[in-house]
Amino acid sequence: MYICICNALTDKQIRSMLGEAAGSTAKVYASFGCRPQCGKCVPYVRNMVRQHCACAAEAEAEVPLMAAE
Ligand code: FES
Repeated sequence: MYICICNALTDKQIRSMLGEAAGSTAKVYASFGCRPQCGKCVPYVRNMVRQHCACAAEAEAEVPLMAAE
């Protein structure tokens, strides 16, 4: 599904870049060599970035720490 019509970016394309965008909505656009035009997609992309960061933080918290010897 297209998320950004102006830049022809789909949800799949955006999801594939979330790890490299390091929690930044602007970096998502930059990773595709573009930037928001009309801006209508920005809240959706921002939400995707936030959800990705929350999931990544949750997954990191679930990693058991090694016991110090
Ligand atoms: S829909 Fe993404 S900038 Fe217009």
